[in-house]
Amino acid sequence: MESAEIRRRWLSFFEERGHTVVPSASLIADDPTLLLVPAGMVPFKPYFLGEAKPPAPRATSVQKCVRTPDIEEVGKTTRHGTFFQMCGNFSFGDYFKEGAIAYAWELLTNSVADGGYGLDPERLWITVYLDDDEAEQIWREKIGVPAERIQRLGKKDNFWSMGVPGPCGPCSEINYDRGLEFGVEGGPAVNDERYVEIWNLVFMQFERGAGDGKEDFPILGDLPSRNIDTGLGLERLAMILQGVRNLYEIDTSQVVIDKATELTGVRYGTGEGSDVALRVVTDHMRTSVMLIGDGVTPGNEGRGYVLRRIMRRAIRNMRLLGASGPVVAELVDVVINAMGQQYPELITDRKRIETVALAEEAAFVKTLKAGTNILDTAVTETKAAGGQVLAGEKAFLLHDTWGFPIDLTLEMAAEQGVSVDEAGFRRLMKEQRERAKADARAKKTGHADLSAYREVADRAGSTEFTGYTATEGESTVVGLLVDGVPSPAATEGDEVEIVLDRTPFYAEGGGQLADTGRIRLDSGAVVEVRDVQQPVPGVSVHKGSVQVGEVTLGAAAHVAIDLRRRRAIARAHSATHLTHQALRDALGPTAAQAGSENSPGRFRFDFGSPNAVPGTVLTDVEHKINDVLARELDVQAEVMSIDEAKKQGAIAEFGEKYGERVRVVTIGDFSKELCGGTHVHNTAQLGLVKLLGESSIGSGVRRIEALVGVDAYQFLAREHMVVAQLQELVKGRSEELPERISGMLAKLKDAEKEIEKFRAEKVLQAAAGLAAGAKDVRGVAVVTGQVPDGTGADDLRRLVLDVRGRIPGDRPAVVALFTTANGRPLTVIATNEAARERGLKAGELVRTAAKTLGGGGGGKPDVAQGGGQDPDAIGDAVAAVERLVGETA
Ligand code: ALA
Repeated sequence: MESAEIRRRWLSFFEERGHTVVPSASLIADDPTLLLVPAGMVPFKPYFLGEAKPPAPRATSVQKCVRTPDIEEVGKTTRHGTFFQMCGNFSFGDYFKEGAIAYAWELLTNSVADGGYGLDPERLWITVYLDDDEAEQIWREKIGVPAERIQRLGKKDNFWSMGVPGPCGPCSEINYDRGLEFGVEGGPAVNDERYVEIWNLVFMQFERGAGDGKEDFPILGDLPSRNIDTGLGLERLAMILQGVRNLYEIDTSQVVIDKATELTGVRYGTGEGSDVALRVVTDHMRTSVMLIGDGVTPGNEGRGYVLRRIMRRAIRNMRLLGASGPVVAELVDVVINAMGQQYPELITDRKRIETVALAEEAAFVKTLKAGTNILDTAVTETKAAGGQVLAGEKAFLLHDTWGFPIDLTLEMAAEQGVSVDEAGFRRLMKEQRERAKADARAKKTGHADLSAYREVADRAGSTEFTGYTATEGESTVVGLLVDGVPSPAATEGDEVEIVLDRTPFYAEGGGQLADTGRIRLDSGAVVEVRDVQQPVPGVSVHKGSVQVGEVTLGAAAHVAIDLRRRRAIARAHSATHLTHQALRDALGPTAAQAGSENSPGRFRFDFGSPNAVPGTVLTDVEHKINDVLARELDVQAEVMSIDEAKKQGAIAEFGEKYGERVRVVTIGDFSKELCGGTHVHNTAQLGLVKLLGESSIGSGVRRIEALVGVDAYQFLAREHMVVAQLQELVKGRSEELPERISGMLAKLKDAEKEIEKFRAEKVLQAAAGLAAGAKDVRGVAVVTGQVPDGTGADDLRRLVLDVRGRIPGDRPAVVALFTTANGRPLTVIATNEAARERGLKAGELVRTAAKTLGGGGGGKPDVAQGGGQDPDAIGDAVAAVERLVGETA
């Protein structure tokens, strides 16, 4: 069963059982305690904690996840991956242990014909938490799993939390017995490679406090309701259903192994070391593409560093496998093709993803060179001083400044007969980490530390938001942080975070960007506010810098927002509501909002739709919106109970946090939505709404981008100018432009094909001459030569095969042709069967040639390809090939 089908079955099984299907959230977690999303439950955390009311009692999703703590295990075991997809079903105070267990069993063991995964029930083993008699009893009595296949494990294995304070609970895992070839008997308690965990059912009912590791933390109390959070590893199930030995060989990964094999010439399955490296490359490239796809860029901190380390590990492993040139472009390409079926946004975003990945490869390759020089010098110095061991400082410098992972340093030093003071290196790393930690503690800018804000909330209560009616007003500074540290005062030039008792500034939320503006203290001090966030619910933190004077805690202030920006944002937000309603009218209720961003003069609106929205529908939607503007509908907001809001038919968004009392924004008779944002008073204020287009951003989620008001006008004016220029160029009326231009393009394409044909013919014309000029080396017809620059690898290959075909099959033949492309030498070598019987293998010949050229390469015995750095060495490479033929034949 293909991965895409596993996913489809999952979602429809739970949808049929009353679960709302929620699209995967971005890997960039919307949670300050996390760098990246490690589990399917992350978007639902507020519902478990009772911080927000879930829009529906049941949900299901297939969530993209990244986990890196086990990065060293990747490729060595059969089941560790840094990127994986977690299929989950969730109950918020609805069904509990019995429901979750029964669903899991049904879906796993139902036959494939009945929509299940068709697993053999006899192969399933269950673990439960030490004292969870209830779960054990359900498995035994309700499901009928024999007692000997149920095992009890401790907190480390069967008690789940996110590793940080938050929801937690005992869990029950379902494990699949892969059989004797994977190890000894005894169940998951004994052997987790053979009995591989596939599905974890978490009975989420407690809240935990701070603590270390998986076991050492206090339970603070019960959650408001008893919930279910489950996670099935899609890749692990795919491994079982596809009958492969490990995660890296499933449908969406094997293609990456194949590409890495092709690029390095190292075959998979020929050695443990190279297999591990190929699997690391496969895993890491998948993770890199998914991270870049979600907007992470390589860097030295946080998420960027996670990505950088993973990508560099992949590139280094490719180099260790023998690749010399760039590899990332082709690897990224296969990953996108493999994952694109499930994540079409990867395909739309292909260019951007490639650009980011290639830049990182270039950066690494550059430091690789410089780092290699530093290493060589250090080795020479060490040897000159009579030493055998490279100082830990050098290894640390290489790591810190040149991005050299320690294993690379170890290996390169070993090649020159020197070892490395690894202990010294690790000590310096530890010191650096401690320094960083201390820094973070001092600064308290660490993404996980919210205690300073909580302290303000405890002391001063929530911030009162006056911005629905006011745009300026008087207030008091009740919280002050300088560079992230609570302080009594701040002075000119300081970066500050200010909490006020009341504020007209809207804190970013519900898709609406924050207001900017100024805080003026009675003392004369001025703070320019750039951003406003609520790191903990209810506390608005104004971020900005002190322009003049001194800010003190407790000072009285006059605050005012930037009105132009606010108005432009309000126009965008009201336009978003109109778009939402118009889309629902056109496509039905499945076009539910999945996210939005309202910024000055522009907005984007994400919504559920299995297919692209046809252009004609989009035109109608745009028309309808602009009609509503002209109807001058009043916009009103009212606070009511959530039940009343539902009764009135207000639209609520999944993933948003709603309390008992909600605010409902009504636009005339056209739209009614739960919303905390700021809006215009009348639709006429919007002026004009222009939808720019529609695209996919994830499975089943589409995005509309649009402009509002003056921005919409300016856009149309620019477009008009472009059309006028085109009219001038093709000498036609605007309505004739599409036809004229497509005619020109068709002609151009034909001409390009024609040129390509001539070029290919020209290359092949050389074939007869080359074949006729074959030399005889110990009875082998050897054709060598250099063909004109810029021939390209594909044409060179075609030519080599053509020449080989011209030599009679009973005569052993070796064809080795060279060219240069972009100043670098390239070779393709082919042998015929008679030559291979004489022991002449193209792969080996290429390796010899490429070595002379200062590069690498490889391939199959019949045809292989390679390249290098030094075009002047082609003559030597020809000689080396001829010599090797002479020695072998
Ligand atoms: N949240 C649970 C896990 O990640 C299901 O294993």
